[in-house]
Amino acid sequence: MQNLNLKDKNLYYIGGIVRDEILNKESFDYDITYVGNAIEFCKNLEKNNIGKILQINEPFGTVRMLINNKEVDIASTRDEIYPEKGHLPVVSDIGCELKKDVLRRDFTINAMAKSTLTNEIIDYTNGLEDIKNKTLRVLHDNSFIDDPTRILRGLKFSVRFGFSLDNHTKKLQDTYLENINRDMSYKRLKKELIETFNLNKQKAFDLFFEQKIYKLLSEKELKKPEYNIENLVKTYPVKHVWLVYIGWIISDNFSQNLHQNLPLNLPQNIPLTKDEKKIIDDYRTLMDANIDSDNYSIYKNFENKATEAILLYTIMSGKDYGLKYFKIKDIKVKINGNDLKNIGISPSKKYSDCFDYILKNKLKNPDMTKTEELELAKHFFK
Ligand code: CTP
Repeated sequence: MQNLNLKDKNLYYIGGIVRDEILNKESFDYDITYVGNAIEFCKNLEKNNIGKILQINEPFGTVRMLINNKEVDIASTRDEIYPEKGHLPVVSDIGCELKKDVLRRDFTINAMAKSTLTNEIIDYTNGLEDIKNKTLRVLHDNSFIDDPTRILRGLKFSVRFGFSLDNHTKKLQDTYLENINRDMSYKRLKKELIETFNLNKQKAFDLFFEQKIYKLLSEKELKKPEYNIENLVKTYPVKHVWLVYIGWIISDNFSQNLHQNLPLNLPQNIPLTKDEKKIIDDYRTLMDANIDSDNYSIYKNFENKATEAILLYTIMSGKDYGLKYFKIKDIKVKINGNDLKNIGISPSKKYSDCFDYILKNKLKNPDMTKTEELELAKHFFK
């Protein structure tokens, strides 16, 4: 952890950053908590030229500051209550004692604080012991009911650190997964799905099925596709790795809702960006298409499809057409409309038939030169 040279008896590093330091791992977020009013405290820091306030979130009592060129979040200690289970909590008791702030958190390994003044680790819930034993333990029995995204966080930490759920936590998870409250924040769930599956670890996918965590996304029983997705993604890197793992489940939900004439924005649908929607649409188009095994049919069906969708198709169809496409995708017809005009062929709808005709031939003979393409064009229009 980079030393921020911030020392105050009421100021503590908290959560992931303390966990990561104990585990000797790099931490990206700097979460700091102030026992009392963090906004006043930060205004004072700014007055004394110790840092610059970037943003204040008054109702949450949090401040984002730039200190030693590092963005840090300084939060007032607070409690949280979940009037709507599965949704964002409501902040209460800003400035409460440290223990209360700690006890609202997800796992004991994330519930430690480190004093900025004495470097003492404050460990009310035996987090250190659980780190030693590689154990993930929730702090209370309602943890998953309050916030089911914690089930995915547990999966993420299991894979990231090689930890396992303690027996009681596993029972609480099983009980929740048998009785899911579908009215939850799917936006929050999505964030954790991305963080979990973007790790590109097959192990995460295995546990997702073994522990039936997939039920958070599907009301149906699902079977894990037998494919090593981790290796596939290593060979064909993509941006939206998480969709290569679970895009088919999201797609199923969409189809089901379409089928039942339900609106597409039902809560059980993960909210998707435009790029993510295109991946799901492309995947569905590929699964519905009649693709022949010849290179031309493969090329035409896969052209302009998102790589994530092609990988999803490969996993779910059991066919290697997509992988064949990756080998031929760079074969392109070199001549264009101007070249055709220059040899005296006036523009018409037949231009595109001509380019297809050349492509068909070029896929058989990829070394074809531009002159040979022009010869083929003349032959086509003869
Ligand atoms: N937290 C929680 N419940 C959640 C999300 C977060 O109790 N659903 C608490 C945990 O104490 C966590 C802290 O808020 O340590 C900060 O959350 P976040 O930044 O999402 O996680 P980190 O633990 O910092 O993990 P990462 O390294 O993945 O950022």
